[in-house]
Amino acid sequence: MKNIVLIGFMGVGKGSIAREIIKNSSYIAIDTDDLIESMQNRKVKTIFEEEGEEYFRKLEKDISLWLEKNIKNTLISTGGGFYKVKNLKKIGTIVLLDSPFEEIIKRIVEHPNADKKLQKRPLLSDLEKAKALYDGRRSEYLKLADVVIDVTNKSAHDCAKELLKKVKKYA
Ligand code: S3P
Repeated sequence: MKNIVLIGFMGVGKGSIAREIIKNSSYIAIDTDDLIESMQNRKVKTIFEEEGEEYFRKLEKDISLWLEKNIKNTLISTGGGFYKVKNLKKIGTIVLLDSPFEEIIKRIVEHPNADKKLQKRPLLSDLEKAKALYDGRRSEYLKLADVVIDVTNKSAHDCAKELLKKVKKYA
């Protein structure tokens, strides 16, 4: 099985869809933000505060090289900016979870843990800037994706089912 690499904007549902995929397949899941946090023994938010974004991007690059070399048969969820690493396509089949910006924000705001979800993501602290980031990134996401799943108004379970069906031909 080739790795599946989930990309997409912050809050689009990469984590919840990954959890559904592992329930319905034999994939094991890892997450680039979790790997960075355990490597650094501090939260992403703290890394941004203490070292700045550029340092965080360098950590993502280090993780991308490690993934390419060491990881197989795995579902890899990535932070929203991870797509910029140079070797992304070498890591696995790229699956974009796609939704309009407004829908993504609505999804976060309506979540019972909305405050926590917003607080842990420094790049969502200013919604105007976040929208500009989204607009700049979306075409890049689309260019890289082997498979696109429109997640708007769909349950994580249905997205996971659709994804597993669509990635079959890349396995
Ligand atoms: C980021 C997304 C975050 C995290 C960091 C930067 C981004 O991950 O990696 O805050 O640049 O979009 P999620 O997409 O899981 O929120």
